[in-house]
Amino acid sequence: MILGIETSCDETAAALVTEDGHIHSNIVSSQADLHARFGGVVPEVASRRHLELVLPVLREALAEAGTTLDGVERVAVTRGPGLVGALLVGLSAAKALAWARRLPLVPVDHLQGHVASLFLEPGAREPPFLCLLASGGHTLLLDVRDHSGFEVLGGTIDDAAGEAFDKGARLLGLGYPGGAALDRLASAGDPDAFSFPVARVPGLDFSFSGVKTALLYAVRDLGGEADDRRADLAASYQRAVVRALVERTLEAAERTGAQQIAVVGGVAANSELRASLEGAAFAPLQLCSDNAAMIASAARYAPAVPYPDYLALDAYASREAA
Ligand code: KG4
Ligand code: ZN
Repeated sequence: MILGIETSCDETAAALVTEDGHIHSNIVSSQADLHARFGGVVPEVASRRHLELVLPVLREALAEAGTTLDGVERVAVTRGPGLVGALLVGLSAAKALAWARRLPLVPVDHLQGHVASLFLEPGAREPPFLCLLASGGHTLLLDVRDHSGFEVLGGTIDDAAGEAFDKGARLLGLGYPGGAALDRLASAGDPDAFSFPVARVPGLDFSFSGVKTALLYAVRDLGGEADDRRADLAASYQRAVVRALVERTLEAAERTGAQQIAVVGGVAANSELRASLEGAAFAPLQLCSDNAAMIASAARYAPAVPYPDYLALDAYASREAA
């Protein structure tokens, strides 16, 4: 069994996954409520909370899988990208566990983890496929040729898609993180009520800062009327963001000749996106947002660092810094 640990942002997560991709437990403790009053994740607050939660979450993952550390053969942990202070909590816990048990450790890239959410059973997907990774921190189009890596075809030049949803939600008074709430509100609205243009940038990149500003102006122009139009605003805004995601994804698929399209990351939970990309493989809902099962899954295809060489491993904030 592989023990996965994930602490890159505001979810403390641990999971037990078998070598052939079956999930025995997948525990996620979200700190979202803790950060809500700040309107975003406060890194130092996140690190401290991870420190409190990492052992209880680990114990729960072992208990739910009906195993102990004796049943663990490898420890997998997110090394980056993410908040370095938050990552270090998970990485240190993983090192300590692996070292105490003389186990190998597999450092995992968080983005590769999102892709590997598709390799879990039941219903595992096989590469090659074109993958849209849309989360709070990233919006990427990836050419996935095998289980262990990808080539980046495009990304966002400003906000991530999840960030666009969160900022839109905030303008509509939906709290943080508001992507899921905006999705729910939009279902009661008219997506054609407002026209929110999304900038088309060259290549296979995305830009979402303009559409957010368009929503801001619409809310301002409506004044006191905006409250009654919230569902329409949400539906129109969601339509604009989803359309941009779908168009670019289909363009990328055409360019690469991909036979299969897959969607992963928190935004993959969006109902309109799931309905718009017919035939695409979507990560199961419980594996869209950050979790440790996907990290353990990625470790199935990544090289393990033998005991005790991994003690010197460091976390990285961005892929460029890796
Ligand atoms: O993958 P994730 O949990 O964390 C990152 O690695 O960033 O993604 C979280 C993001 C948040 O921005 C959240 O608002 C968004 O995913 N999200 C959604 C939905 N559910 C979560 N966005 C749109 N529609 C949803 N249903
Ligand atoms: Zn993520």
